[in-house]
Amino acid sequence: MNEKISFLKNKVYSDSPNKNIFPITTNIDKNGNLTIGGCCINDLVKRYGSPLYILDEITLRNSCKAYKKSLDKYYPGDSLPIYASKANSSLFMSNLVSSEELGLDAVSEGELLTALKGGVPNEKIVFHGNNKSDREIAFAIQNNIKVIVDNIHDLKRLERISETLDRNLEIMIRFTPGIECHTHEYIRTGSFDSKFGFGIEYLETLFKAIKETKFLNLTGIHAHIGSQIFELDPHKDLGEIMVNVILKAKYHGHIIKELNVGGGLGIKYTEDDDPPSIDEWIKTVSLSVYNTCKKNNIKLPKLMCEPGRSIVSTAGVTIYTIGSFKEIPGIRTYLSVDGGMSDNPRPITYQSSYSACLVNDPLGNSSKKRYTVAGKHCESGDVLFKELELGQCATGDLICVFGTGAYNNSMSSNYNRIPKPATVLVNNGEAEIIQKRESPDDLLKYDVLPDRFIK
Ligand SMILES: Cc1ncc(COP(=O)(O)O)c(C=O)c1O
Repeated sequence: MNEKISFLKNKVYSDSPNKNIFPITTNIDKNGNLTIGGCCINDLVKRYGSPLYILDEITLRNSCKAYKKSLDKYYPGDSLPIYASKANSSLFMSNLVSSEELGLDAVSEGELLTALKGGVPNEKIVFHGNNKSDREIAFAIQNNIKVIVDNIHDLKRLERISETLDRNLEIMIRFTPGIECHTHEYIRTGSFDSKFGFGIEYLETLFKAIKETKFLNLTGIHAHIGSQIFELDPHKDLGEIMVNVILKAKYHGHIIKELNVGGGLGIKYTEDDDPPSIDEWIKTVSLSVYNTCKKNNIKLPKLMCEPGRSIVSTAGVTIYTIGSFKEIPGIRTYLSVDGGMSDNPRPITYQSSYSACLVNDPLGNSSKKRYTVAGKHCESGDVLFKELELGQCATGDLICVFGTGAYNNSMSSNYNRIPKPATVLVNNGEAEIIQKRESPDDLLKYDVLPDRFIK
C-alpha cells in the first residue's frame, strides 16, 4: 500500500478540512475505484472529459461552517469570515460562500462582478489591490463596496471621488505589520519589504492625512501576513499589533470598528504537512485580539478574517489521464498526463508538493514504481511530481491529484493554447457542471486578423 495515502484506507478524517489531504467524502467503491461525493470518478471523466476539476460540496461547506462556528465560540464581539475569492472565483463559489453567510474579498472588477452576480451582498464584499484602476474603484463605489486603501494613490482618488459625489465614504487601510513567517517568498506579504499596504511606521502620518479629508471616514484596518502558514505565533502577534494600531488611530481621532487579520492558514498537501486546525487558528486570533482589547480598555472591533486556501483547497481534486511513458534507464521514468502547468501552475512557480493516486488502484495494491509525472506543455519544468509512487498503470488510466481546489483554476492559463478544464460539483452521488470546459475555438474568440491580412 502507498504509505502516502494510508489514511485513505484508515479513513481517519479531521473535522477541520484543512488537516485532511482528501475531500471528506472520498471513498473506494466495491470495484476498488476512487469515488468522491458519492460519484465514481471513472464515470465523471467519461461524462465530462479530462483533465477535470472536481469540487466536493460537503468539504467546502464544512470549511465555511468551521470558520463561522469557531468565531462564534471564541470571539465575544461581532465577526465575519470573508472568503478570499482569488483562491477560486466563480459564480458558484460566490453563491456557496454567501449561502454559508461568509463575506468575500475581491481584487479586480472581474472578481467583484463575479461576487455580485453570484449573490454576495455588497455590504459583505471588500475590495483589495495594490494598483486598482480608476474604473475598478468607480465600480466598487457605485456598488457600495468598501475599498481597502492600499497606498496614497488609492487615498487621493477616493478623496477626489468622495468630494465629487459630495458623500461620506467609509474606508479601511491595509498596512504591513513587519511580521516574518516561514512560507514561500512570493506568498509572504506582511514583512516590511512588500508591495502591499502602508508601512507601519507611516501610519501616524496617514492618520493625520485622513483626518484632514472632508468625506473619508476611516473605520477599519487590515493586514495579511502570508499564505500556507503552519505556525500560530505570527497571527497571535498580528492580533496584538493590530489592536495597538487601533489605539494609535484613536489618538488621532479615528474610531476603528473593524479589524481584518487577512488569511493564511495552511493546508495539508502531503503527509509531511501538519497545519493547525481552523479552530486553533481562530482561537489564537480571537484571544489575541480580545485580550489586547481588554488590557487596553478598547471596545471590541468586528473581527474579520480572509481565508482562501483553507476554504476551498481540500475540497478540490484534479483528474488527469495518463498518456505517454518514457523510461531513461537508471535515471527515471517519465509519465505524461493531459494537463500540467496550465491547469496547475503552482509546482513550476512555487515548487509545491501534492499527493495523488491512481483512480483504479487508490491504495497502490498492485506492484509499485516511482514516476516523474510530467505535464504536456512545451516546458521542461512542467513537472507535477518529481517522484510519485504509483501502482501498475498504463496509458488511459486516471490519476487523481488532491488539494487542488485553491490557486489552480484561478491561476490557470491557456499556455500552448490548451483549453481550461471543466469543473464539476459533486454531492450525494450527483454531479453538476459549474464551469464548462473551454474548446480550442473559444481560444480564438479574442484573436483578430485585420482585413488586409485576409486573402
Ligand atoms: C489580502 C489577502 N487576503 C487573503 C488572502 C488569502 O490567503 P490564503 O489563501 O492563504 O488564506 C490573500 C492571499 O494571498 C491575500 O492576499
